[in-house]
Amino acid sequence: MNLPKTSSTFRIFHMRICFLIVLFSPDGLRAEMGTTPNLKHIVKGRCYSYITLVNPNSSYDCEKIWREFEEAVVRESPCNVKVKDYRRMFRAMQQTLPCGKLLFWSKTRELMHNYAAVTRRFWTLEDTLVGYMFNDLIWCGQEREDRGFDFNSCPEWSTCVNHPVYSLWRQASQNFAAAACGNITVLLNGSIDNAFNKKSMFGSVELDSLNPRMVDHVNIKVVANLEGPFIESCSQGSIVDLINVLQKRGFHWTCTDSDLTLMNIQCVQNPQQFSCLTCAKSLQHRDL
Ligand SMILES: *[C@@H]1O[C@H](CO)[C@@H](O)[C@H](O)[C@H]1NC(C)=O
Ligand SMILES: *[C@@H]1O[C@H](CO)[C@@H](O)[C@H](O)[C@H]1NC(C)=O
Ligand SMILES: *[C@@H]1O[C@H](CO)[C@@H](O)[C@H](O)[C@H]1NC(C)=O
Repeated sequence: MNLPKTSSTFRIFHMRICFLIVLFSPDGLRAEMGTTPNLKHIVKGRCYSYITLVNPNSSYDCEKIWREFEEAVVRESPCNVKVKDYRRMFRAMQQTLPCGKLLFWSKTRELMHNYAAVTRRFWTLEDTLVGYMFNDLIWCGQEREDRGFDFNSCPEWSTCVNHPVYSLWRQASQNFAAAACGNITVLLNGSIDNAFNKKSMFGSVELDSLNPRMVDHVNIKVVANLEGPFIESCSQGSIVDLINVLQKRGFHWTCTDSDLTLMNIQCVQNPQQFSCLTCAKSLQHRDL
């Protein structure tokens, strides 16, 4: 007699907890999501697209890459896929990166995309085979006996020691930075505290992997939103820490917080901004 009552009480309680989690954790909804549907088709399709259309001269075995990926993810429990579990997959997708073109970024994702598209000068991690293949996807294995991907739910990054998605990106970022040569560019966000965050992928993995004997200059570009706030700059906040780290490790570096190209790109999206109007006027004068 008591059972139905208990279980309905439990259900209400459970609903409240879920509701709270969704309300208060920005990643709450994400945690409910499982492996991206059609993962296999997307990953393999992107691989074939890369070797056929994006980088036609590359010779990779897309079937083998998928097999190694699947093997790494489904043989471990969903929260315990280590960086080294992907070793065979990465061995199947080694890539030589162009010198002087690599673009690193942190908290400037949208601007970075536009910057790379407009200048056509840069390579980001997403231009590499591994970045191209796994961009925006989610995956994890399942705990149960029948191995395979869990399409119902995947653990949140923060709850896992070795999250399958994080481990792959960590290794991909490390390889990307370790291969950097010539000049590199780093795009940081001047509108937030801790623009150089030691816990970000750039601060915790990529910076350590850069080789001062291979990298000529680290060119830092700090970009704030046009409307502000203006929190960090080349001489203010965590950027100064970054410069100190670079200096200690023997890198040559430059830093600018007033890059005209970047500002123009921001203005194209928001021409009515006050700072853009003055810019447009001075360009008009120059035309005359
Ligand atoms: C592919 O390789 C050939 C010969 O090595 C070269 O002429 C061609 O420019 C390359 N194509 C691309 C897209 O890199
Ligand atoms: C800086 O970060 C904020 C908060 O994440 C974001 O809204 C803004 O678009 C970023 N600015 C630039 C220039 O990338
Ligand atoms: C590398 O960066 C330095 C400093 O910004 C610059 O003087 C130099 O011309 C750059 N070299 C190339 C090849 O772009």
